[in-house]
Amino acid sequence: MTKHIGILTAGGDSPGLNAAIRGVGKAAQNFYGMHIIGFRDGFRGLVENRVIRLDGEFLSGILTTGGTVLGTSRDKPHKMQVGDKILDMTDVIVKNYADNHLDVLVCLGGGGTQKNSLRLKEKGLNIITLPKTIDNDIALTDTTIGFDTALGIATEAIDRLHSTAHSHHRIIVVEIMGHRAGWLALGAGISGGADVILIPEIPYQLDIVADAIRKRVRSGKKFSIVVIAEGAMTREHAKNVRAATASKHKAKDKSQKKDALQGMARLEAAHGNHAQRLAVQLEELTGLEARVTILGHLQRGGTPSAADRILATRLGSACVDLINKGKYGVLVAARGDGVKTVQLEDVAGNRKLVPLEHAWIATGRHVGVNLGDEFSRE
Ligand code: F6P
Repeated sequence: MTKHIGILTAGGDSPGLNAAIRGVGKAAQNFYGMHIIGFRDGFRGLVENRVIRLDGEFLSGILTTGGTVLGTSRDKPHKMQVGDKILDMTDVIVKNYADNHLDVLVCLGGGGTQKNSLRLKEKGLNIITLPKTIDNDIALTDTTIGFDTALGIATEAIDRLHSTAHSHHRIIVVEIMGHRAGWLALGAGISGGADVILIPEIPYQLDIVADAIRKRVRSGKKFSIVVIAEGAMTREHAKNVRAATASKHKAKDKSQKKDALQGMARLEAAHGNHAQRLAVQLEELTGLEARVTILGHLQRGGTPSAADRILATRLGSACVDLINKGKYGVLVAARGDGVKTVQLEDVAGNRKLVPLEHAWIATGRHVGVNLGDEFSRE
């Protein structure tokens, strides 16, 4: 019997999503003769049953384009804003899945999407996910669709910032995305030759960073590039976040949980503008002029790299091989040149941070990058 596939993209957009949609669509239709439809704007489109047929014309010419032709949203099936209410819409999704005669739903997304997909698996739907995020923080996959492109963009930005830092004898603080993980900042920092790299996995000390910059000045280098991940924190801030998170876990009733959540929200707010704050502090401590560049969504935009196109295409086509075999409930993970299936239960809620023993950290230290911690003390 001909299989019917539904596909959606959820969470932040990412270079390579269209290549993945195309990979799934072409393998499904042209190679296996399956039917495929897309849902617009992530899980919201699935709830609202906004369907589009992914015929040959729709899939043509999208390999190289950024964003997602299906549209995306950060809506969650079990907590969706409907009018002025937040409702659990999973039963509507189950109904729309059945009404569209689907055999499987393919969800392309990051950490949040993996969790939402597991919820739908638990409702009895056949689900397969693909790992997509520039943050590279999905567990049990070597890498994620979009990471390589973002790494290239962030690296080029650091390259370009070097000339101004050098010409004006300035410190340039560059903020790089990555949510709570440091992959993008660490990777781009190393490949762009940053002098200081601050990542969430290694809470930093301001005096250590300032000392490193002063030492560079003494050796005749009057400029410094400081890469800071959006989730990087000082040691004190990280300690407060750990304490607030522990209070949330220990909360015995609703009121204690509310207090803990409010505490966490206050800390989150205090973290705002952290790159700007660091620049001001470094100016005061080193006497050098400092400027801030926040790369923001530039890192997610535009055409995917060759590596991301290959990754997205091969994961997309492997996904259809699995559908053909009737293997569901899994993430199609990248493993070396091949793929590996991982149960959604093992992926959902399991963020992949940079391990402290990771080769990139050792590499950075060996080439003299200051990571803002005791090991980096001059
Ligand atoms: O997950 C990708 C990402 O770009 C993160 O690096 C960043 O924290 C977040 O999304 C930004 O989300 P939004 O585009 O919704 O502001």
